[in-house]
Amino acid sequence: MTAADRWDAKYADWHEPGSPSEFVTGHAELLAECPTAVDLAGGTGGTALWLAALGIDTTLVEVSGRALEIARSTAAERGVQLRTVCADLEAEPLPTAAGLGSERGWHAVVCANFLHRPLLGSLSGLLAPGGIAFVQIATVKNLLINARPGRPYLVERGELPGLCGGLEPISFEEDWFGHRHEARLLAHRPG
Ligand SMILES: C[S@@+](CC[C@H](N)C(=O)[O-])C[C@H]1O[C@@H](n2cnc3c(N)ncnc32)[C@H](O)[C@@H]1O
Repeated sequence: MTAADRWDAKYADWHEPGSPSEFVTGHAELLAECPTAVDLAGGTGGTALWLAALGIDTTLVEVSGRALEIARSTAAERGVQLRTVCADLEAEPLPTAAGLGSERGWHAVVCANFLHRPLLGSLSGLLAPGGIAFVQIATVKNLLINARPGRPYLVERGELPGLCGGLEPISFEEDWFGHRHEARLLAHRPG
């Protein structure tokens, strides 16, 4: 079974997008200065739709066609513009910003709750100079009270900043956010 099959099955009964990441929405003032954004493995588009509603030219990249359908139909209902790209971020070469509509790199990149270490290492190359990245991944400490996500999908304590080479941290936190223990990195590409 492919990643697309697995996630399409998971989203089969969904009809509404998930909630936007409160890590991202908590930085609306920084995002106000971003003309473009991309949400990588952004699911049903909760965060991408929120970004698009701010007037940011937003691209949602996802392996699940079902998730993208939900995001597109919600964008149409809400009257917001959202670009969608179906791509397997583990199997295909990393899509370049130019190939996805932002010629000089995105001004903001979001990667939440999706761990593919090579992708994190490539985020700086997706960003325009000065662009910002929001990376939010559960840590192994999350296993203390949650059986899922399983260990392959979790970062070790202190690991996240080192995975995002070429980015300069603005803030880095590891803590319980509600019932999840997460690493949250806000970083920018120098320049
Ligand atoms: C835990 S969900 C997180 C969704 C969203 N980022 C969020 O925080 O709500 C993981 C997402 O990664 C997507 N995904 C899984 N494997 C993928 C891959 N190889 N390429 C692109 N997206 C993938 C899934 O379809 C799913 O929407």
